[in-house]
Amino acid sequence: MKGRLQGIRVLLALLKPYWLLVVVMAAVALAGSVAEGLGAGLIVPLIEDPGAGTLDGVPLLNQFGRAVEGMDFGQRVRWVAVALVILAVIRGTAKFLSALLSFRLRVKVEGGLREQTFRQLMEVELRYIYKRTSGDLIATVNSYPRDVGEIVRAVGNTLPLFLTVAVYATLMFLLSWSLTLVAIALLLLISGILRRFVTVRVRRSARRVYAAIKRLHSIGIEHISAIKLVHLFYQQARGETAFAEAVGEYQGQIYQRSWLVGLVGPLFSTLNIAVLAVLLIASTYFLLPQSGSWQALIALFVVIMYRLMAPAVGLNQTRASISGKLPSLTAIREFLRTDNKPYLVNGKQQASPLRERLAFEDVSFRYYGETDIVLDHISFDIRKNQMTAIVGPSGSGKTTIADLACRLYDCTEGRIALDGTDIRDLDLRSWRSKIGVVTQDTVLLNATVAENLRFAKEDATQEEIERAVRSANAYDFIAALPKGFDTRLGDRGVGLSGGERQRLCIARALLADPELLVLDEATSNLDSESEALIQQAVERARENRTVLVIAHRLSTVRRADHVVVLQAGRVVEQGDHSLLVKKQGYYYKAVQMQSFEPHDGEVGWIIG
Ligand SMILES: Nc1ncnc2c1ncn2[C@@H]1O[C@H](COP(=O)(O)OP(=O)(O)OP(=O)(O)O)[C@@H](O)[C@H]1O
Ligand SMILES: [Mg+2]
Repeated sequence: MKGRLQGIRVLLALLKPYWLLVVVMAAVALAGSVAEGLGAGLIVPLIEDPGAGTLDGVPLLNQFGRAVEGMDFGQRVRWVAVALVILAVIRGTAKFLSALLSFRLRVKVEGGLREQTFRQLMEVELRYIYKRTSGDLIATVNSYPRDVGEIVRAVGNTLPLFLTVAVYATLMFLLSWSLTLVAIALLLLISGILRRFVTVRVRRSARRVYAAIKRLHSIGIEHISAIKLVHLFYQQARGETAFAEAVGEYQGQIYQRSWLVGLVGPLFSTLNIAVLAVLLIASTYFLLPQSGSWQALIALFVVIMYRLMAPAVGLNQTRASISGKLPSLTAIREFLRTDNKPYLVNGKQQASPLRERLAFEDVSFRYYGETDIVLDHISFDIRKNQMTAIVGPSGSGKTTIADLACRLYDCTEGRIALDGTDIRDLDLRSWRSKIGVVTQDTVLLNATVAENLRFAKEDATQEEIERAVRSANAYDFIAALPKGFDTRLGDRGVGLSGGERQRLCIARALLADPELLVLDEATSNLDSESEALIQQAVERARENRTVLVIAHRLSTVRRADHVVVLQAGRVVEQGDHSLLVKKQGYYYKAVQMQSFEPHDGEVGWIIG
């Protein structure tokens, strides 16, 4: 019950911006329903004996008798025929407008939700995003808004139905309040039974449909992003089976949901007829003593009750189908909440040029919702125009340090300071514009080479692009591509080698001429030529620039001005290469181990 009320509240909040549309819809629906009721009233002049005055005592409906008083039967029929057409036109127009308006409302709400969910997706801190699966996130911006749109449309369509039921119920009440009370009691009972046996099952089945959709999305996305792996391990059949199973589950659940919803109509109308029969029989006892000629009354009652059936069935069906889509509403509501998610708070100061150093001061960090500490009271300086290298075994927290320096996340304790100013006080855009990043997994967009480069600086001139590309040693291979800079890269840069991807990413990072270059070396092994080209690019890049490099190769570390050795989230040593070698600690041991490697010298050396 509480959940349902909350659902209604969420729905009302969704509709608030479109209140004018809702009011117009209500007015149109009311006009249609009144026309519908009047149409039913038109039977009065036909069935009532002129002068008998059976319905004289019935308010409102007796007006129909009065209107035709004094006419002969032929005149009455003609009068009714004309009135029928007029009412039908009003009703038809109202129906058309209602459908149109509720569709419009649906489109607006759905579009609005798509924008809102996407905005949330963009704004919420990465730590939260990483906790969710891609399939789930895609469903949140894609399928859930569509479902909520459908709920809105269903509710919109419910309005005329509801008003029609209300109009008929009023008419019935005027005819005989006692019969109507019995009818309402019985109908409520039926609805209750239906809800008990059908709606609850629909809701349960709906939750399973949602789980199945999520699974479908996840399997699809997993296999697309790991397609090379799937082929390498020849696991296509496994993927196909998993997907087919998810499809089967989805079909089964959706089938169950649809037959449950489909059951509502026939079940309800049959039960409704049973109610009518009960009422008819009851009326012979209730109404007989009240009036001498009760045929007109009972005939009218039957007609109205019959006409009430369609909208009442519609209401029950809509309720069932809405409850089948409620999980989407819940999921979206949860996703859009801002009080239970982390956000980066933008600072106010513009970042000024680096004067001396970017300092990690006693920084600790843990990922969102995790208990394990990833960085444990870390302190070191990144000095202006120097190259600072971070080394350490896999999982020691190197990439996390780079992410914190860029302020992808905020540290849990301590602070990172740009010449004494906490980077949390800096305007994010101004801070990021000072930094160029090459990530470990060399992410490229599904776009042309030029578009990929321009991601760093939208208005870069061709000259700037070429300069960046040349200094990253990427010019030759780009020029050799079929369409040069206008060559489209497939998803995840299919078509480029690992080394080429890295050089392209370096060029992108250099394009905006950042003050601080953050370079997370890819762990993948490169051939010595590629390696040399990248080394050369890095050497060029570090001139007059501050560089933070997450190093996996000794060749890189040796050139660094300062080396920070990380072990399980703690800084265990720092200094330059020769100092650390002299110290004979962790770093020295790693280098020693390297020297025992049987093959290919320095190149491809991985610490840890
Ligand atoms: N999104 C995340 N959510 C939770 N834990 C994470 C997340 N990313 C990384 N970690 C954890 O944080 C720790 C440090 O990860 P990090 O990526 O910084 O290591 P790394 O030193 O860069 O390793 P590598 O050399 O393999 O790139 C690891 O234990 C990892 O499991
Ligand atoms: Mg890493």
